[in-house]
Amino acid sequence: MAFARLSAIVALALGASQLASAATTCSTGQTTAHAACCSLFPVVDLLQKELFDGGECGEEAHSALRLSFHDAIGFSTKGGKGGGADGSILAFNKTENAFHANAGIDDITDRQFPVFVKSGLSAGDFVHLAAAVGIANCAGAPSLLFFSGRPPPVAAAPDLTVPEPTDDVTSILARFADAGFSPPEAIALLASHTIAAADQVDPSIPGTPFDSTVTTFDSQVFLEVLLKGKSFPGATGQPGEVLSPLAGEMRLQSDFRLSQDPRTACFWQAFINQQSLMTFAFKLVMAKMQLLGQDVSKLTDCSDVVPKSTAFSGPIKYPASFSQADVQQACQILPFPSLATVAGPAPTVAPVPGS
Ligand code: HEM
Repeated sequence: MAFARLSAIVALALGASQLASAATTCSTGQTTAHAACCSLFPVVDLLQKELFDGGECGEEAHSALRLSFHDAIGFSTKGGKGGGADGSILAFNKTENAFHANAGIDDITDRQFPVFVKSGLSAGDFVHLAAAVGIANCAGAPSLLFFSGRPPPVAAAPDLTVPEPTDDVTSILARFADAGFSPPEAIALLASHTIAAADQVDPSIPGTPFDSTVTTFDSQVFLEVLLKGKSFPGATGQPGEVLSPLAGEMRLQSDFRLSQDPRTACFWQAFINQQSLMTFAFKLVMAKMQLLGQDVSKLTDCSDVVPKSTAFSGPIKYPASFSQADVQQACQILPFPSLATVAGPAPTVAPVPGS
């Protein structure tokens, strides 16, 4: 139901953008539905070369996605907060980087700023195009929609709009609802944590991944968050962290609580080994998130400049030594998917390089 409503919203957004005429061939040789999008192809090349190490699903690609969320979520449907997906987090980085929930975001704003200046784009277009291009480097990721033409941001977003891993489920869902997202939409956005790692939750172990396949946009994180916890990846547990199933892996308290709460547990479980459903839902909700606060009728649909990722063939598997006996299943109304187990001894998850 919620996804159907979301499809309608995105369809409206698409309809409001300028109607596509015949494809234009740009001077660079690429084609796009709108001649106005031609200038973005060199920016995509610039991003790949200067930000994403030639096309990697690494630290910068992961952080670019986190940045797009921390930028957009400053919005409130009631007004009185930030401008949404407007790039304020990049343009007013001195202000927004100081917020507790944005710890470590300065790494990516510092990396993006010189490329942003070269790009000639508005800060909002740059932040949200960078997220789309970055995740296209991760196998299995959907090709995100991208609308061009956001005006420059007028002010920094206020503090306390970004959810924290120490927050309880009620406050997380309330914050998402205030920004316009339902519980299933919030869970769909958390597919992002399949290409995620923490530098700041335990600063002594930067780059600690949230799942065992951190460069693949698969549904592994939805499975591994449900597995029984055994240890902390660092010397001790930190605020916002709970015991994780695998050595070298971090499990956020917020992800675990959302996976167990009756309001969200079935949406969480429903994505396990459902690559098409998960990526479809993520793409829809990301389109909504990346347009928060924007007048879509004034934007141009330049989605065809966004590169395509390589496919993820699946199915996902239990990490070696794990099985259904280790699952903390909180949704009883859906059958739990039957999955094979990777052969061999229990793995140690390696940190993301460059963190
Ligand atoms: C309940 C909501 C959320 C909470 C509490 C949360 C919390 C966190 C935390 C604590 C980290 C680790 C930061 C660090 O220590 O370096 C993180 C990383 C990340 N988050 Fe979230 N997050 C949430 C939702 C989202 C959403 C909606 C997105 C994107 C749509 C997102 C994308 C990411 C990504 C990609 C990373 C990894 C960044 C990197 O590896 O550099 N998160 N998140």
